Amino acid sequence: MTGLGSSARKPAGVAGAVDEGRLWTRHMDMARHGALARGGVNRPALSAEDGRARRLMADWARALGCAVFTDPVGNLFVRREGTEAGLAPVLTGSHLDTQPTGGKFDGSYGVLAGLEAIEAMNDAGISTHRPVEVVAWTNEEGSRFQPGCLGSCVFAGRTGADEALAVRDRDGIAAHDALAAIRAGEPDFLVRPVGFDVHAYVEAHIEQGPLLEKARVPVGIVTGIQGTRWFAIEVLGEEAHAGTMPRRHRKDAFVAAVAMVGALDRLMHDEDDVVRFTIGRFEVSPGSPNTVPGRVFFTIDFRHPDAHTLKRLGDQVQAVCRAHAGPCQVGIEETFHALPCAFDPMVVDTVRATVRDLGFPAMELPSGANHDAKFLAEICPTAMIFVPCERGISHNEAESASPSDLAAGAQVLAETLVRLANA
Ligand code: GLV
Ligand code: MN
Ligand code: MN
Repeated sequence: MTGLGSSARKPAGVAGAVDEGRLWTRHMDMARHGALARGGVNRPALSAEDGRARRLMADWARALGCAVFTDPVGNLFVRREGTEAGLAPVLTGSHLDTQPTGGKFDGSYGVLAGLEAIEAMNDAGISTHRPVEVVAWTNEEGSRFQPGCLGSCVFAGRTGADEALAVRDRDGIAAHDALAAIRAGEPDFLVRPVGFDVHAYVEAHIEQGPLLEKARVPVGIVTGIQGTRWFAIEVLGEEAHAGTMPRRHRKDAFVAAVAMVGALDRLMHDEDDVVRFTIGRFEVSPGSPNTVPGRVFFTIDFRHPDAHTLKRLGDQVQAVCRAHAGPCQVGIEETFHALPCAFDPMVVDTVRATVRDLGFPAMELPSGANHDAKFLAEICPTAMIFVPCERGISHNEAESASPSDLAAGAQVLAETLVRLANA
């Protein structure tokens, strides 16, 4: 991929101190934790690999003179002090957990761009009135523990820490036990209570879609995030011998589930291609070739930028599944519901002005992917900065981004943080 962020001219101030090579090297070093053979990363939330990634982030931050904190849900914060006591910090960051076949940039970029911004402030000798903190939120992806954005939802007061950490992964391990195992290796991280006043939150992320690359711009000014609803569907039939049980006497959970999936696919069909509808997990039990399946479990991820459509279509999921259950029973649980959000005009304006002053071509766009920023937006002024990724590919080992685009986004982030922290 050609970097769109290259610029012959070195900007003044903190942006000029952003080091493209250093930022790139940190991505490669971080990607060693959970590295996969085809170049991607598998770093499940609260796994041993996640613990090692957190340690690396903390070590880098301490070398930059930052203090390291965690909280009861394992969110990891590093803090560069401001010059005026008692002011709420400006917060940036993202997540270090990945999809099972994830890439090197989804999440890591926001954390590493935040560290790069702090290092650039140090190198440029810039102090800020307010503290600047970088955070790695716990379990953003939601692939190990459902739903995602666990750490940011607790931080934003959507749910309590104990309730959030009671969720279990597919092996039955509770998030609080996984967190306790990681914590054992982090006795030097100071624990502070959940939540604090945040002056503003800015998250940098790869776009995870094709728009910036297509428009040939290195930076995206993100205006908001579309809505998301997740459902967990359990279809219960009756196991039987595949060779002896006639079709009319069967309670085949697979056949019922396939009928539901077909009907849901028709419900979600949209000529304009705005609806996002995904069945990412589909488990058939007991999974034996010669037993009629007695149970199917599948998940639905449904997204739309319009709150009314999100409600109208999402509210039909239950009725469609019941109507196609045949002789089986079906249980439907909505595991996640987040309305579309619009980011804060003050923070978006600050990003916009920074992009203009640094001279980067940019475009404004909403986010199709979910981010912790959606939940921070509920409690403080929030915005995001995107950089392109190759062919818009993400949640894929092949995910890639150019060093110069990553650096362009980090320049915009660093300058935006300084402006907000001195406002
Ligand atoms: C996170 O990657 C999401 O958009 O679900
Ligand atoms: Mn992400
Ligand atoms: Mn992701």
